[in-house]
Amino acid sequence: MLAMSRARLRPLLSAERIAGRVKEIGSNIERDHSGDRPLWLIGALKGAAFFLADLARAVDRDVRIDFIQASSYGSGTESSGNVRIVRDLDHDIAGCDVILVEDIVDSGRTANVLLRLLRERRPASLRLATLLDKPSRRVEPVEIDYRGFEIDNQFVVGYGLDAAERYRNLPGVWTLPETGVGGK
Ligand code: PRP
Repeated sequence: MLAMSRARLRPLLSAERIAGRVKEIGSNIERDHSGDRPLWLIGALKGAAFFLADLARAVDRDVRIDFIQASSYGSGTESSGNVRIVRDLDHDIAGCDVILVEDIVDSGRTANVLLRLLRERRPASLRLATLLDKPSRRVEPVEIDYRGFEIDNQFVVGYGLDAAERYRNLPGVWTLPETGVGGK
């Protein structure tokens, strides 16, 4: 059953390609954070959990990790535009270097809400890393400091991204063609 439904998936980014890009982003993060301040990687649950885990290991310096979770009201693949925080940080990030880690920036609403919230905590610096960027879907401008891949408006799953909570554990990123455009 599972194998049959996976047959609908089309490969977009292989695990190897992602691993190579994550390594490059890890080096860029090292280059940009050479000081002594604590560096926090803040993962946006749930999708970014896989990217965060790999990215943290691609940065050759001490990093600390925490998680935050936002949720859109409404259902379906189109975000309704209202984003609320359902899980906040465990730690104080004031005076630290902070990178918000996202799996995908789509409309840009979630990233902006999370960046605003993190900025209120007075970090010394705040940057945004996202594995995927879908600029064609942007509703709000977002400044992305570390971008894995820019992709077209296709429904993508795998490497943390889901369709109704399925497929997150797939290595690599895949498209679900018949789902049509519009979804994440
Ligand atoms: C996804 C993704 C981003 C957000 C991007 O999260 O992880 O956080 O949507 O969309 P936006 O740019 O239109 O705001 P989702 O709400 O699907 O939760 P999940 O990570 O738990 O799957």
